[in-house]
Amino acid sequence: MPDLAWINGEICDLYEAKVSFLDHGYFFGYGVYEALKVYEGKPFAVEDHMDRLERSMKEIRIHPDFTREELKVIINKLIAESGLQDAMVYLQVTRGIGPRNHAALKNAKPSLTMFVSYLPPTSDNLRRNGANAIILKDDRWAHPFIKSLNLLPNVLAKQIAEEKGAYEAILVRENGFISEAASSNVFAVFDDTIITPPTDGKILAGISRMVVLKIIDKYNLKFKQDHIRVEQLRQADEIFITNTGAEVLPIINLDGNPVGKGEPGPVSQKLYELFMKEVREYLDKQ
Ligand SMILES: Cc1ncc(COP(=O)(O)O)c(C=O)c1O
Repeated sequence: MPDLAWINGEICDLYEAKVSFLDHGYFFGYGVYEALKVYEGKPFAVEDHMDRLERSMKEIRIHPDFTREELKVIINKLIAESGLQDAMVYLQVTRGIGPRNHAALKNAKPSLTMFVSYLPPTSDNLRRNGANAIILKDDRWAHPFIKSLNLLPNVLAKQIAEEKGAYEAILVRENGFISEAASSNVFAVFDDTIITPPTDGKILAGISRMVVLKIIDKYNLKFKQDHIRVEQLRQADEIFITNTGAEVLPIINLDGNPVGKGEPGPVSQKLYELFMKEVREYLDKQ
């Protein structure tokens, strides 16, 4: 019996199915899914799965352009075409296809993909004798230092920022300390001293952050790596963010209030100049 896929309206062999590289599910894990068990050629607990899917889509701001009735028709069609009796129907809905950008995709159609695949019944041995388990710390997903594709919280943060007319979202931990931003590292300046949170495993060690640290060292600027409380950040003379795309970018307004004088400050501007000088020197050496 063939495992079949349904990709945006077409049924094909599961192993021939292809999706776009530009799908935000692929880039960011920006999507939700359901897996339904099929017994005797019929899917189980369909309405419950549809309820959860709708809740999940709503939570991550995916607005489907299909109804649950349409989905159920596709699920049944796929099972019928496969002829499978014991199977799994897996379906996922992603934010859609568009340029790789953390900000909201404009006018993108959610991508709906689905497959049906043979699912053997649980083995007699397991069913009869039971299974083993181990205890592990629940640290899903507590590894922001890995530049992983699990970026759903980051892209949602960026969307909220955008909705509030902001360029970036600076993230604060439960303990009140700043970690980093949705897609950049954060620096603040207090009385000429530059401060950035340490790479303690809770932030991404940005390459641009590292370049800035090298510059700070080279020019003997006043600096410390330290945790910054959100209330402290609000009092900073300057804030700037760093990432590969934007290099060094001053933040002049935080939550509607001006940062310092509400304009790019001298330290941020100088660091941007020195950053571009590093870029120039690097390019000239190639
Ligand atoms: C969460 C996060 N922090 C920091 C950065 C900055 O890293 P880099 O300077 O290597 O671009 C990024 C870049 O995308 C990021 O996604």
